[in-house]
Amino acid sequence: MPIHNRIAEYHDDLTATRRDIHANPELGFKEHRTSALVAEQLESWGIEVHRGLAGTGVVGVLRGRGSESRAIGIRADMDALPMQEEGDVPHRSTVDGRMHACGHDGHTTILLGAARYLAETRNFDGTVNFIFQPAEEGGGGGRVMVEDGLFEKFPCEAVWGLHNAPDLPAGTIAAAPGPIMAAADGCKITIEARGSHAAMPHYSIDPIAIAVQLYTAMQTIVSRNVDPLKSAVVSVTTFHAGSAHNVIPETAELSATIRTFDPEVRELIRKRISELCAGMEAMHGASVRAEYTYGYPPTVNHEAQTRIALDIARDVAGEAMTRDDVPPVMGSEDFSYMLEARPGAFLWLGSGRTDSDPGLHHPRYDFNDEVLTLGASYWARLVESALPRAG
Ligand code: NI
Repeated sequence: MPIHNRIAEYHDDLTATRRDIHANPELGFKEHRTSALVAEQLESWGIEVHRGLAGTGVVGVLRGRGSESRAIGIRADMDALPMQEEGDVPHRSTVDGRMHACGHDGHTTILLGAARYLAETRNFDGTVNFIFQPAEEGGGGGRVMVEDGLFEKFPCEAVWGLHNAPDLPAGTIAAAPGPIMAAADGCKITIEARGSHAAMPHYSIDPIAIAVQLYTAMQTIVSRNVDPLKSAVVSVTTFHAGSAHNVIPETAELSATIRTFDPEVRELIRKRISELCAGMEAMHGASVRAEYTYGYPPTVNHEAQTRIALDIARDVAGEAMTRDDVPPVMGSEDFSYMLEARPGAFLWLGSGRTDSDPGLHHPRYDFNDEVLTLGASYWARLVESALPRAG
């Protein structure tokens, strides 16, 4: 049975809510209006609401019928991106330089739809925690919620989350056990050498020559150090040095992004960057310093919860629209922190790419409202089967 009939009736309401959030985008940890809207809707359906976790985070707690003490969590993210919307939909962003270009407006609305249905029907036994988190786009709101005691205050034996996927046909649900998204780290390298007149290079220790060698050496980390059967990205993304054509500068600065799935590969890359910097120091007599910043960890799906997620997908989206073979992507997600704290799974909800939906983080991106009721049905069914009523 695909979409719950009752949830199908929410279509217009959900679309209106999604477009309202889309028109009023807010950046990470500043989701005041969105968080108030979420709290108000949850309360209007009689759901117990807790606010203030990670600042703008909201947790709705709903108990089913019966006396079961088991509890699960479902999470949605609420924040928008600091970019200008270029589309001309009627509900386009009303705020310059802010836009829901990743569909978090849709994720929030889908979870609200499921919460409404579950509050009306309560056809489950146990507790479901609806987790609305701030600041997925770089702020690590998921981590802050976990650090603020999310799972101590709201115990969950397992947790699930989803992200829309314009690359998959609308209505597809996809998940696979193991790593599904990468760890995203950064590294800043500062080279302090000796400047001079460009016509007298023998007085200098040229930081540009060092930076270029270092750049080339860093290309060998993935090609020569990482096991070819494992995946990694090392991309040098900024290179700054100099201000005049006739001056050898004193300093140069590089920065890089590092993506990995495997903790050992992640550590190997960090170590190799620092060894290469030390080598350049010894070779040139300059100071070459690397500051490595650990970002979001890899998003790793747990076996049992992924199996549950896929079983529900077959039930709700149908066998033909369920994919268990999707390769991981090199993007990252701060749901990873919740999956480090609790077993669970992260899934893709196909939203289908169209002319007006050119993909995530695109200035004309707009969430496909046609998958709202499917997503809400999916969460509702997952709760009903993870926390079944006796008999
Ligand atoms: Ni996103």
